[in-house]
Amino acid sequence: MSRKKNRKKNFVKQIAVVNKTPVKQEEQMVQMDLGPRRSVAFIGSECYPFVKTGGLGDVMSALPKTLAKLNLDVKVILPRYKCIPQKFQEKMEYRGSFYMDLCSDGKQYYVGIMEYQKDGVVYDFIDNDEFFSWGNPYTNLIDDIPKFCYFAKASLAALNYLDWTPDIVHCHDWQAALVPLYLRTCFQNTNVGRASAVLTIHNLRFQGIYDRKMIQYWSGLPDYVFNKDCMIQNWLDANMLKGGIAYCNKITTVSNTYAGEIQTEEYGEGLAAHLRYHNNKIRGIVNGIDTDNWNPATDKLLTANYDTESAVENKKINKKALQESLGLEVDDHKMVIGLISRLTNQKGLDLVNTVVPGIMDGNTQVVVLGTGDAWYENTFRYYEYKYKGSFCAYIDYNENVAHDIYSGCDAILVPSRFEPCGLTQLIAMRYGTVPIVRETGGLKDTVSPYNMYDNTGNGFTFDRYESGLLYDAINRAKTLYFESRKYWDDMVIRDMNKDVSWEKSAKQYKDLYVELTPRN
Ligand code: ADP
Ligand code: GLC
Repeated sequence: MSRKKNRKKNFVKQIAVVNKTPVKQEEQMVQMDLGPRRSVAFIGSECYPFVKTGGLGDVMSALPKTLAKLNLDVKVILPRYKCIPQKFQEKMEYRGSFYMDLCSDGKQYYVGIMEYQKDGVVYDFIDNDEFFSWGNPYTNLIDDIPKFCYFAKASLAALNYLDWTPDIVHCHDWQAALVPLYLRTCFQNTNVGRASAVLTIHNLRFQGIYDRKMIQYWSGLPDYVFNKDCMIQNWLDANMLKGGIAYCNKITTVSNTYAGEIQTEEYGEGLAAHLRYHNNKIRGIVNGIDTDNWNPATDKLLTANYDTESAVENKKINKKALQESLGLEVDDHKMVIGLISRLTNQKGLDLVNTVVPGIMDGNTQVVVLGTGDAWYENTFRYYEYKYKGSFCAYIDYNENVAHDIYSGCDAILVPSRFEPCGLTQLIAMRYGTVPIVRETGGLKDTVSPYNMYDNTGNGFTFDRYESGLLYDAINRAKTLYFESRKYWDDMVIRDMNKDVSWEKSAKQYKDLYVELTPRN
């Protein structure tokens, strides 16, 4: 069948699947107003609410939903991990299964497809107990490398099996970075091989680097991609993200500043030269957040809902509830500063540890929510013990507590060493909680510094990675909070009014997809 005919067939089929009713004339008109129609398959390793360990899960959830409203057919392909809650597993429908070869052992691997539909998006979960039976999506590289080789190949094979040929395959981070290589090698002469590949780098620190022989064995990719301009990292190792960068049609990263930073030696994580070589393919598109899910006016997890009218008063109620639930002294005169983060080297926690004794002045409380490196966890536990009633170390991953912190705190700290985009500052602003951030990556692009002369800006910022500068930024925030509350409250409202939705950025992704597949 010709490409055009096949697309047309898929188009009709997808509309029918998504809407379950034939497309009405008015709906067609609306779709026409929204510009050209394209189809895109998202391929990634996590997606809220099924499975989330960080911001990638948020993006894989909110961006497809917004794109579906922009006249795009969107499918999201995910691993069917055992840890996906039962309530979702129960609603998945079996769409078929087949066997696929993978590595050089000649063995045939089972690929099951389980489907779930919501908000105009079709989610297809790749089912295979051998690879996805662990409690967590990520374990260690020895297991994760074979798992994500299998996932990348099975995702493309599933698209062919479903006879769903997307215009764009949009893959995310190293876990899906082999997709462009499979597209242009084993799938080149199949339906899905016609798609263009977009690779989004959410975090360059993680690249899927491992023993070259092992990656070559598990991926089953041809020898010629194992060269120094593509998959080869050094004489021992291969690098999956590096290969994806070489083979995709476009690279996006999650803020404009990070798109520039990753091409420098300081932030390039060893791939700066490779990225500079592929510079003409790179584009920065800043993340948004799901403003339905993160909405202080309707958030069911809050003690008191609020909008810009009621924020100043109702945030006090949420602060009290937060203080009570976390064992902090209940006093709405205290300034409460929150931190919600993976506790890793990326997040600027050594700066935080250095400044904590200085900021615990009797008028300030600090709440940390996160899990990660034992050293950070234990230091925060020690501070909780030392500053009882003023410091809380909530060492866990907990969505409900996160909502309480976003709504009940006055300020949020994001002093990252590097931050491709960062969502915590965006969510905080939506909840009228003032961000204190380092000017790097997406933090720089989304938080404009407070200007005391004309009373503008969204938060407090500092540039170089130095604890003294973080300390200074926190003190500037405290000064405004304690001495000019009216101006502080103005900033709370400004932050709540700031557009942190996906609308603008989703349009930029759509423009990119259309650019890659030019036709009406
Ligand atoms: P990253 O992806 O680098 O971890 P982001 O700022 O992009 O950072 O996204 C972090 C996301 O994970 C946000 O939605 C944040 O609320 C959430 N999050 C991080 N740590 C926790 C935690 N301990 N409990 C609940 N949510 C968390
Ligand atoms: C990564 C980055 C974070 C970004 C998120 C979503 O995990 O560390 O800055 O917001 O991906 O793109």
